[in-house]
Amino acid sequence: MASNKLKPPKSVRIDFKPSPRQYELWKLLQPDFCPLYGAGIQQVLIGYDINRNPQYKPQCIKCLNQNLPQLILGGGSAGGGKSYLGSVWLISSCIRFDNIRAVVARKTLKSLKESTWNTIKLILKDLGLKEDVNFKINNLEGTLLFWNDSVIIMKEMADCLVLK
Ligand SMILES: Nc1ncnc2c1ncn2[C@@H]1O[C@H](COP(=O)(O)OP(=O)(O)O)[C@@H](O)[C@H]1O
Ligand SMILES: [Mg+2]
Repeated sequence: MASNKLKPPKSVRIDFKPSPRQYELWKLLQPDFCPLYGAGIQQVLIGYDINRNPQYKPQCIKCLNQNLPQLILGGGSAGGGKSYLGSVWLISSCIRFDNIRAVVARKTLKSLKESTWNTIKLILKDLGLKEDVNFKINNLEGTLLFWNDSVIIMKEMADCLVLK
């Protein structure tokens, strides 16, 4: 049971129609996906650390590939749908899993508020989710909290850039 006072919606239907290139990225962003075989990841025991805690590594259930992507990059010209895809992914992940923390970052908070944050709010509206009923926005903290305690956090990258 979530600790906030928000309520789950009666139903949510995510009707996302990705372009072929967006679909490639979408598949790679799924937690249970092997890029060589397709679906199905399992955690295999690889040994124990000095405190005798078991250590696991993810691998494909079919092809046993352990070379799974940790960092997924999407490129292309403005208007190609990168931010939209990322926003649908963040929201659908927050709905699917309880109590997760997702971060959305841009170079400046200003650009984040003017673009991606609006895309996120628009998608929430399209899904029929209601502010202060199903989710809550804290503009001061830059957070978006869902009924199941999952949260999207806004971050500014400008301050942490070390290489130019
Ligand atoms: N699969 C899609 N379904 C519906 N609208 C989309 C889709 N992909 C992109 N869009 C729309 O296209 C526009 C540009 O997409 P955006 O994500 O802002 O591009 P980028 O971040 O790559 O510059 C946005 O208004 C977005 O709503
Ligand atoms: Mg963008």
